[in-house]
This record gives sequence, C-alpha cells and structure tokens, in this order.
Amino acid sequence: MPVEDPRGKPNPPTYAAAGPYPPIRVQELNPAYARMLKMDADSARSEVTSSMQYIYQSWVLSLQNEALSEMLRGIAIVEMRHLDILGRLIAQLGGNPGYAVLQQGRPVSWSGSMVSYAQQPDRMLEGNILLEQHAVDTYTQQIAHIKDPYVVDVLKRILLDEQLHLEMFRSSLQQLRGQNAG
Ligand SMILES: [Fe+2]
Repeated sequence: MPVEDPRGKPNPPTYAAAGPYPPIRVQELNPAYARMLKMDADSARSEVTSSMQYIYQSWVLSLQNEALSEMLRGIAIVEMRHLDILGRLIAQLGGNPGYAVLQQGRPVSWSGSMVSYAQQPDRMLEGNILLEQHAVDTYTQQIAHIKDPYVVDVLKRILLDEQLHLEMFRSSLQQLRGQNAG
C-alpha cells in the first residue's frame, strides 16, 4: 500500500483570491443591472475575452515558457468561473446571458477578433494588464452604483480575483523585463 507523505502534497498554485464566493442570488429582477453585467461578461473587454485570450496565450507559450503558460491557464479558468457567475446573475436579473451586448441600441456579438493574438510574452502581458485594469475599474464603479446587496457581494469577490491577476501580470512582466535586460 502506498504510504501517504505525512506532510501531504504541496498546495497547487492558486489563481483566485482566498475565501469563498458568496451565494449567486439577486434581490429582484432588474434589467438595467443585467445590461451592466452583460458588459462585464460579453463585451470586447470582458470575462469571455479574458478567458479566451489567456487560454490562447497559454497554448502559444506551452513549449517556450512552461511557467507563464501554466499561470495563464490557471487565470483563464478563474475568468471562466467569473463568466459562469455573471451569466447566472444576468439570467436571475431578467436578462439574456447570450454572448452579445447592446451598443448604441444595436447588438454586438462577441467574436474571436476581440482577442489579442500577440505572440511575444511581454506584449501578451501588457495587453492582459489593460484588460485587468479595465475589469478592476468597471467592477469598482458598479459596486458603488448597484443597490442590490447580493449582486454587490458577488462583484466584490470577483474584484479580489481581478486585483490578484493584475498583480500577477505586473510582476510577471517585471520579471520578464529583468531577464531581458540581464
Ligand atoms: Fe474576471
């Protein structure tokens, strides 16, 4: 019988902030809130875009930079979790969680052309930092604006993850530039 190492296995690296996600629920139907969350979920700078962009980068870097590839994959999965959470909230608020947003009254479908296909790791990280900074700013504004306490709790929890991702991308970029300079 295999003997368990008493120290246990090391924890896998984590790409989400500590602590549980609050229950996914809303106070009442609110189509205006649903439209706001759809921008977070499905616009050009959204959870779908982040998730698809980071997983693409992870594939491209899988041979040349295993550590960065793994980090991007881990973060992509957290972004997909955010999309899942937002989709459920949008449906509960009375919106349609389809992959499109209204811009000037016209539906704009999410598209793979919204993903940055940068091939250099530093260019990738620069683009990701812009996406994460946009997410942090938008969630912060929505937390101040939205009156539904359940939705606000969920957005506050998602915001913690985005702040962590922003730090991770910034420190990876710094490390990369240090290596290139050295
Ligand atoms: Fe996210």
